Amino acid sequence: MQILLAPMDGLTDVYAREILTDVGGYDFCVTEFLRVTDTLFPKRVFYRRFPELNPGLMKSGQQISHTKSGVPVFLQLLGSDNNAMADNAAKAVQLGAQGIDLNFGCPAKTVNRRDGGASLLQYPDRIHQLVKSVRQSVPLHIPVTAKMRLGYEDQLLAHDNALAIQEGGADWLTIHARTKKDGYRPPAYWEALAPIKQLLSIPVIANGEIWSVEDYYLCQRRSTCESVMLGRGAMVSFDLALQIKCRLQGKEIAALNWPSVCNCLEKLYQLMDQNHELNKKYIAPRLKLWIKWLMPNYQQAEDIFNTLKRIKDPQSAIQLIRASAIS
Ligand SMILES: Cc1cc2nc3c(=O)[nH]c(=O)nc-3n(C[C@H](O)[C@H](O)[C@H](O)COP(=O)(O)O)c2cc1C
Repeated sequence: MQILLAPMDGLTDVYAREILTDVGGYDFCVTEFLRVTDTLFPKRVFYRRFPELNPGLMKSGQQISHTKSGVPVFLQLLGSDNNAMADNAAKAVQLGAQGIDLNFGCPAKTVNRRDGGASLLQYPDRIHQLVKSVRQSVPLHIPVTAKMRLGYEDQLLAHDNALAIQEGGADWLTIHARTKKDGYRPPAYWEALAPIKQLLSIPVIANGEIWSVEDYYLCQRRSTCESVMLGRGAMVSFDLALQIKCRLQGKEIAALNWPSVCNCLEKLYQLMDQNHELNKKYIAPRLKLWIKWLMPNYQQAEDIFNTLKRIKDPQSAIQLIRASAIS
């Protein structure tokens, strides 16, 4: 049973990966998507999306393509050009990537219009060819995985797409249990994953609408998938993966309290502040974004949000969070 931290563009960046895997419970992370057109990217592009590849940024004892707490990170590629996807995958692996994930789920109009992400779910043959091209371009010991939705407009091609991915040589498949048309509207159709899991011989990872330990159990029962990928729930409860793992082992642990959450936010602030390449104007907005995600779960987040949202200066923002931790 494995728990993966979902790729979420603008959310699960290198900082989130470090902080959330440090809280615990995660077995793998996937980077936010790197969009491939027809060119081979220079090293710096990979390093920007995937700083865990950059030897210059490794902390003592940290392995390449792993978070600081030792969780492997896979690079997610999004695109539709077989050769460019294969070449960029091969280059990422040369730089040290421990796995490549392929995105067949992004619903964004700009991405779909240019023939990438979920729009490819209309063409299982193209998906098959893409997975195969990438599989052939990287050594066999490097996992190639894929993440798909149940379909584009409807679920009619879900089985064909899943088989295309398996036959292309993928090591596992994550399924976001909704179509592109469903967007992010609840519910997630976990039950649609059960026949796909039965059809495939590779592991199937369930994804979508897991916000609590109870949701995990419901999803597991309906989808028959043991392993899951956590997305937004991971930002609402930093300890969601840990809570699930503990419950599965029959252990009860207290939920992360507000001072501990604030410690994570302090770490977020420190990591961003120490990054000399990061424009400091991004720090306060990022702290606000994280606080906003925490609001459904922590009254304290709601209490400070209205003040925080007017603050632009990073130090004032973190001071407010520090004060709330001890109030
Ligand atoms: C802000 C945001 C950005 C996302 N970016 C990506 C991405 O880069 N690659 C990807 O495969 N999925 C992306 N997703 C989809 C998530 O990985 C996940 O499939 C989806 O949020 C459903 O899971 P959840 O209900 O646990 O959040 C994104 C989702 C959100 C909310």
